[in-house]
Amino acid sequence: MRNFQPILKEIYASATNLKDKGTVASYIPELAIVDKQNFGIHLRTVDGHEYAIGDYNKPFSIQSISKVLSLTMATSLVGNKILKRVNVEPSGHPFNQLALLEIENGIPRNPFINAGAMVIADILVSRLQNPKEDFLNFVREITNDISIHFNESVAYSEKVTGFKNYAAANLLKSFGNLENDVDVVLDFYFHQCSIEMTCSQLSKAFYLFANKGKCLRNVLHLTESQVKRINALMLTCGFYDEAGEFAFEVGLPGKSGVGGGIVALLPHDFIITTWSPGLNINGNSKLGMQALEEFTTKTQLSIF
Ligand code: DON
Repeated sequence: MRNFQPILKEIYASATNLKDKGTVASYIPELAIVDKQNFGIHLRTVDGHEYAIGDYNKPFSIQSISKVLSLTMATSLVGNKILKRVNVEPSGHPFNQLALLEIENGIPRNPFINAGAMVIADILVSRLQNPKEDFLNFVREITNDISIHFNESVAYSEKVTGFKNYAAANLLKSFGNLENDVDVVLDFYFHQCSIEMTCSQLSKAFYLFANKGKCLRNVLHLTESQVKRINALMLTCGFYDEAGEFAFEVGLPGKSGVGGGIVALLPHDFIITTWSPGLNINGNSKLGMQALEEFTTKTQLSIF
Protein backbone atom coordinates (compact mmCIF):
# COMPACT_ATOMS: atom_id res chain seq x y z
CA MET A 1 0.00 0.00 0.00
CA ARG A 2 1.29 3.46 -0.89
CA ASN A 3 1.09 6.11 1.81
CA PHE A 4 0.00 9.42 0.25
CA GLN A 5 -0.35 11.25 3.57
CA PRO A 6 3.19 12.76 3.69
CA ILE A 7 2.90 14.15 0.15
CA LEU A 8 -0.54 15.65 0.90
CA LYS A 9 0.99 17.31 3.95
CA GLU A 10 3.80 18.72 1.83
CA ILE A 11 1.63 20.11 -0.97
CA TYR A 12 -0.86 21.48 1.57
CA ALA A 13 1.94 23.36 3.33
CA SER A 14 3.41 24.89 0.19
CA ALA A 15 0.01 25.93 -1.18
CA THR A 16 -1.12 27.49 2.11
CA ASN A 17 2.18 29.39 2.27
CA LEU A 18 1.29 31.25 -0.92
CA LYS A 19 0.53 34.89 -0.09
CA ASP A 20 -1.74 35.40 -3.09
CA LYS A 21 -4.67 33.04 -2.61
CA GLY A 22 -6.57 34.33 -5.65
CA THR A 23 -9.96 36.03 -5.73
CA VAL A 24 -13.28 34.55 -4.62
CA ALA A 25 -15.92 34.59 -7.41
CA SER A 26 -18.16 37.60 -6.87
CA TYR A 27 -20.45 37.53 -9.91
CA ILE A 28 -22.59 35.09 -7.93
CA PRO A 29 -23.05 37.18 -4.75
CA GLU A 30 -23.59 34.15 -2.46
CA LEU A 31 -20.15 32.80 -3.42
CA ALA A 32 -18.43 36.09 -2.56
CA ILE A 33 -19.03 35.52 1.17
CA VAL A 34 -17.05 32.27 1.35
CA ASP A 35 -13.83 32.49 3.40
CA LYS A 36 -10.81 32.11 1.16
CA GLN A 37 -8.71 30.63 3.96
CA ASN A 38 -10.55 27.32 3.44
CA PHE A 39 -8.36 24.67 1.85
CA GLY A 40 -8.85 20.93 1.73
CA ILE A 41 -7.48 17.96 -0.20
CA HIS A 42 -8.87 14.44 -0.41
CA LEU A 43 -7.44 11.46 -2.27
CA ARG A 44 -9.32 8.19 -2.76
CA THR A 45 -7.70 5.17 -4.39
CA VAL A 46 -9.67 2.76 -6.54
CA ASP A 47 -8.65 -0.04 -4.19
CA GLY A 48 -10.31 1.69 -1.25
CA HIS A 49 -7.76 3.83 0.62
CA GLU A 50 -8.34 7.45 1.62
CA TYR A 51 -5.93 10.26 2.50
CA ALA A 52 -6.96 13.80 3.40
CA ILE A 53 -5.87 17.09 4.92
CA GLY A 54 -7.40 20.45 5.84
CA ASP A 55 -11.04 21.35 5.10
CA TYR A 56 -11.84 18.21 3.13
CA ASN A 57 -15.07 17.64 5.05
CA LYS A 58 -16.61 21.11 4.61
CA PRO A 59 -19.33 21.40 1.93
CA PHE A 60 -18.83 23.95 -0.87
CA SER A 61 -20.63 24.92 -4.06
CA ILE A 62 -19.54 22.48 -6.77
CA GLN A 63 -20.72 24.79 -9.62
CA SER A 64 -19.27 23.64 -12.97
CA ILE A 65 -18.05 20.34 -11.53
CA SER A 66 -21.75 19.38 -11.71
CA LYS A 67 -21.49 19.53 -15.52
CA VAL A 68 -19.57 16.24 -15.53
CA LEU A 69 -22.34 14.62 -13.48
CA SER A 70 -25.15 15.97 -15.69
CA LEU A 71 -23.26 14.81 -18.79
CA THR A 72 -22.87 11.39 -17.16
CA MET A 73 -26.60 11.12 -16.46
CA ALA A 74 -27.48 12.30 -19.99
CA THR A 75 -24.98 9.81 -21.47
CA SER A 76 -26.55 6.99 -19.49
CA LEU A 77 -30.01 8.01 -20.79
CA VAL A 78 -29.42 8.93 -24.44
CA GLY A 79 -25.86 7.85 -25.32
CA ASN A 80 -24.23 9.32 -28.41
CA LYS A 81 -27.32 11.28 -29.49
CA ILE A 82 -25.95 14.12 -27.36
CA LEU A 83 -23.31 14.71 -30.04
CA LYS A 84 -25.89 16.06 -32.49
CA ARG A 85 -26.41 19.07 -30.25
CA VAL A 86 -23.02 19.73 -28.68
CA ASN A 87 -19.46 19.39 -29.97
CA VAL A 88 -16.41 17.90 -28.24
CA GLU A 89 -13.72 20.48 -29.02
CA PRO A 90 -11.93 22.77 -26.57
CA SER A 91 -13.22 26.31 -26.91
CA GLY A 92 -10.06 28.22 -25.97
CA HIS A 93 -12.38 30.83 -24.47
CA PRO A 94 -13.87 31.53 -21.03
CA PHE A 95 -16.75 29.35 -19.78
CA ASN A 96 -19.37 32.04 -20.35
CA GLN A 97 -18.25 33.39 -23.73
CA LEU A 98 -21.07 34.05 -26.20
CA ALA A 99 -19.33 35.01 -29.46
CA LEU A 100 -18.38 31.48 -30.54
CA LEU A 101 -21.91 30.23 -29.91
CA GLU A 102 -23.32 32.78 -32.32
CA ILE A 103 -20.63 32.15 -34.96
CA GLU A 104 -21.15 28.39 -34.72
CA ASN A 105 -24.94 28.57 -35.08
CA GLY A 106 -25.94 27.63 -31.55
CA ILE A 107 -23.92 24.40 -31.31
CA PRO A 108 -21.74 24.77 -28.18
CA ARG A 109 -18.09 23.75 -28.53
CA ASN A 110 -18.31 21.24 -25.66
CA PRO A 111 -20.58 20.16 -22.77
CA PHE A 112 -18.51 21.97 -20.10
CA ILE A 113 -18.79 25.58 -21.24
CA ASN A 114 -22.00 27.09 -19.86
CA ALA A 115 -23.93 26.90 -23.16
CA GLY A 116 -22.98 23.23 -23.61
CA ALA A 117 -24.09 22.39 -20.08
CA MET A 118 -27.42 24.13 -20.80
CA VAL A 119 -28.00 21.82 -23.78
CA ILE A 120 -27.29 18.85 -21.49
CA ALA A 121 -29.67 20.36 -18.90
CA ASP A 122 -32.31 20.66 -21.64
CA ILE A 123 -31.88 16.95 -22.51
CA LEU A 124 -32.36 16.02 -18.84
CA VAL A 125 -35.38 18.31 -18.44
CA SER A 126 -36.99 16.62 -21.48
CA ARG A 127 -36.18 13.10 -20.31
CA LEU A 128 -36.79 13.18 -16.54
CA GLN A 129 -40.16 13.10 -14.77
CA ASN A 130 -39.02 15.40 -11.93
CA PRO A 131 -35.80 16.81 -13.37
CA LYS A 132 -34.25 18.54 -10.35
CA GLU A 133 -35.23 15.84 -7.89
CA ASP A 134 -34.20 13.00 -10.22
CA PHE A 135 -30.82 14.59 -10.92
CA LEU A 136 -30.16 15.16 -7.22
CA ASN A 137 -31.08 11.54 -6.52
CA PHE A 138 -28.72 10.41 -9.29
CA VAL A 139 -25.85 12.34 -7.66
CA ARG A 140 -26.79 10.92 -4.25
CA GLU A 141 -26.85 7.39 -5.64
CA ILE A 142 -23.52 7.45 -7.44
CA THR A 143 -21.96 9.02 -4.34
CA ASN A 144 -23.83 6.71 -1.98
CA ASP A 145 -24.75 9.69 0.20
CA ILE A 146 -28.29 10.97 0.74
CA SER A 147 -27.13 14.07 2.61
CA ILE A 148 -26.15 15.87 -0.64
CA HIS A 149 -28.45 18.83 -1.38
CA PHE A 150 -29.01 21.94 -3.49
CA ASN A 151 -28.21 25.31 -1.91
CA GLU A 152 -31.36 27.31 -2.73
CA SER A 153 -29.74 30.65 -1.78
CA VAL A 154 -26.88 30.07 -4.22
CA ALA A 155 -29.30 29.00 -7.00
CA TYR A 156 -31.42 32.10 -6.39
CA SER A 157 -28.39 34.37 -6.17
CA GLU A 158 -27.21 33.11 -9.57
CA LYS A 159 -30.70 33.41 -11.08
CA VAL A 160 -31.07 37.08 -10.22
CA THR A 161 -27.60 37.99 -11.49
CA GLY A 162 -27.30 35.49 -14.35
CA PHE A 163 -27.70 37.89 -17.26
CA LYS A 164 -25.01 36.27 -19.39
CA ASN A 165 -26.44 32.82 -18.83
CA TYR A 166 -29.87 34.14 -19.88
CA ALA A 167 -28.19 35.54 -23.01
CA ALA A 168 -26.58 32.17 -23.77
CA ALA A 169 -29.82 30.26 -23.23
CA ASN A 170 -31.73 32.71 -25.43
CA LEU A 171 -29.12 32.32 -28.16
CA LEU A 172 -29.43 28.54 -27.96
CA LYS A 173 -33.22 28.87 -28.14
CA SER A 174 -33.01 31.20 -31.16
CA PHE A 175 -30.95 28.57 -33.01
CA GLY A 176 -33.45 25.84 -32.12
CA ASN A 177 -31.02 24.06 -29.77
CA LEU A 178 -33.25 24.15 -26.66
CA GLU A 179 -36.46 22.12 -26.54
CA ASN A 180 -37.73 23.57 -23.28
CA ASP A 181 -38.37 27.13 -22.07
CA VAL A 182 -35.29 29.18 -21.23
CA ASP A 183 -36.54 29.72 -17.66
CA VAL A 184 -37.12 26.02 -17.05
CA VAL A 185 -33.70 25.01 -18.39
CA LEU A 186 -31.92 27.73 -16.41
CA ASP A 187 -33.78 26.86 -13.22
CA PHE A 188 -32.46 23.30 -13.60
CA TYR A 189 -28.97 24.54 -14.53
CA PHE A 190 -28.70 26.98 -11.58
CA HIS A 191 -29.81 24.22 -9.21
CA GLN A 192 -27.34 21.63 -10.54
CA CYS A 193 -24.54 24.20 -10.10
CA SER A 194 -25.69 24.99 -6.54
CA ILE A 195 -25.15 21.43 -5.29
CA GLU A 196 -22.91 21.38 -2.24
CA MET A 197 -20.40 18.63 -1.62
CA THR A 198 -17.22 18.11 0.36
CA CYS A 199 -13.90 17.06 -1.18
CA SER A 200 -14.49 13.61 0.28
CA GLN A 201 -17.96 13.31 -1.30
CA LEU A 202 -16.69 14.55 -4.66
CA SER A 203 -13.96 11.97 -4.80
CA LYS A 204 -16.68 9.35 -4.24
CA ALA A 205 -18.90 10.83 -6.96
CA PHE A 206 -16.00 10.68 -9.44
CA TYR A 207 -14.99 7.14 -8.49
CA LEU A 208 -16.60 5.68 -11.62
CA PHE A 209 -14.30 7.69 -13.91
CA ALA A 210 -11.26 6.03 -12.35
CA ASN A 211 -12.96 2.64 -12.08
CA LYS A 212 -13.90 1.79 -15.70
CA GLY A 213 -17.43 3.17 -15.34
CA LYS A 214 -18.47 1.31 -12.19
CA CYS A 215 -19.43 3.55 -9.29
CA LEU A 216 -19.00 2.71 -5.62
CA ARG A 217 -22.35 1.03 -5.06
CA ASN A 218 -22.70 -0.27 -8.60
CA VAL A 219 -25.97 1.66 -9.16
CA LEU A 220 -24.73 2.90 -12.53
CA HIS A 221 -22.40 1.35 -15.04
CA LEU A 222 -21.14 3.41 -17.96
CA THR A 223 -19.30 1.47 -20.65
CA GLU A 224 -15.51 1.77 -20.76
CA SER A 225 -15.87 3.66 -24.01
CA GLN A 226 -18.27 6.19 -22.45
CA VAL A 227 -15.88 6.72 -19.54
CA LYS A 228 -12.94 7.12 -21.92
CA ARG A 229 -14.85 9.87 -23.70
CA ILE A 230 -15.89 11.75 -20.57
CA ASN A 231 -12.31 11.58 -19.24
CA ALA A 232 -11.07 12.86 -22.63
CA LEU A 233 -13.50 15.77 -22.40
CA MET A 234 -12.31 16.57 -18.88
CA LEU A 235 -8.70 16.61 -20.09
CA THR A 236 -9.35 18.78 -23.16
CA CYS A 237 -12.20 21.02 -21.96
CA GLY A 238 -12.44 20.74 -18.16
CA PHE A 239 -10.61 24.00 -17.48
CA TYR A 240 -11.87 26.12 -20.41
CA ASP A 241 -9.17 28.49 -21.64
CA GLU A 242 -6.78 26.97 -19.11
CA ALA A 243 -7.28 23.35 -20.24
CA GLY A 244 -3.91 23.29 -22.00
CA GLU A 245 -2.19 24.68 -18.92
CA PHE A 246 -3.83 22.09 -16.64
CA ALA A 247 -2.82 19.22 -18.95
CA PHE A 248 0.69 20.70 -19.20
CA GLU A 249 1.20 21.28 -15.47
CA VAL A 250 -0.89 18.50 -13.92
CA GLY A 251 -1.42 15.91 -16.66
CA LEU A 252 -4.71 14.46 -15.41
CA PRO A 253 -8.33 14.67 -16.62
CA GLY A 254 -10.20 16.98 -14.27
CA LYS A 255 -12.92 19.56 -13.76
CA SER A 256 -13.04 22.86 -11.93
CA GLY A 257 -15.85 25.02 -10.56
CA VAL A 258 -16.02 28.70 -9.60
CA GLY A 259 -16.76 27.60 -6.03
CA GLY A 260 -13.03 26.77 -5.95
CA GLY A 261 -13.26 22.98 -6.25
CA ILE A 262 -11.17 20.82 -8.58
CA VAL A 263 -11.53 17.08 -9.11
CA ALA A 264 -8.84 15.21 -11.04
CA LEU A 265 -8.21 11.51 -11.51
CA LEU A 266 -5.76 8.94 -12.76
CA PRO A 267 -7.75 6.17 -14.47
CA HIS A 268 -7.54 2.81 -12.65
CA ASP A 269 -5.69 4.40 -9.76
CA PHE A 270 -7.11 7.38 -7.76
CA ILE A 271 -9.30 10.47 -7.58
CA ILE A 272 -7.95 13.65 -5.97
CA THR A 273 -10.15 16.60 -5.00
CA THR A 274 -9.04 20.03 -3.80
CA TRP A 275 -11.03 23.00 -2.54
CA SER A 276 -9.75 26.53 -2.13
CA PRO A 277 -12.24 29.30 -3.00
CA GLY A 278 -9.72 31.87 -4.33
CA LEU A 279 -9.60 31.76 -8.15
CA ASN A 280 -7.01 32.76 -10.74
CA ILE A 281 -7.89 34.99 -13.69
CA ASN A 282 -9.28 32.03 -15.65
CA GLY A 283 -11.78 31.22 -12.90
CA ASN A 284 -9.97 28.11 -11.63
CA SER A 285 -8.83 27.60 -8.02
CA LYS A 286 -5.37 29.11 -7.56
CA LEU A 287 -4.16 26.92 -4.70
CA GLY A 288 -5.87 23.85 -6.15
CA MET A 289 -3.98 24.20 -9.44
CA GLN A 290 -0.67 24.68 -7.64
CA ALA A 291 -1.25 21.76 -5.24
CA LEU A 292 -2.16 19.38 -8.06
CA GLU A 293 0.84 20.43 -10.14
CA GLU A 294 3.11 19.74 -7.19
CA PHE A 295 1.37 16.43 -6.48
CA THR A 296 1.81 14.95 -9.97
CA THR A 297 5.32 16.36 -10.36
CA LYS A 298 6.53 14.90 -7.06
CA THR A 299 4.74 11.54 -7.33
CA GLN A 300 5.18 11.24 -11.11
CA LEU A 301 1.60 10.00 -11.24
CA SER A 302 -0.07 11.41 -14.33
CA ILE A 303 -1.49 10.00 -17.55
CA PHE A 304 1.68 10.96 -19.43
O1 DON B 1 -22.96 29.40 -14.90
C1 DON B 1 -22.05 29.81 -14.19
O2 DON B 1 -21.40 30.80 -14.47
C2 DON B 1 -21.74 29.03 -12.91
N1 DON B 1 -22.94 28.47 -12.37
C3 DON B 1 -20.75 27.93 -13.17
C4 DON B 1 -19.45 28.42 -13.77
C5 DON B 1 -18.26 27.65 -13.35
O3 DON B 1 -18.23 27.02 -12.31
C6 DON B 1 -17.06 27.79 -14.20
N2 DON B 1 -15.96 26.98 -13.72
N3 DON B 1 -14.87 27.18 -13.36
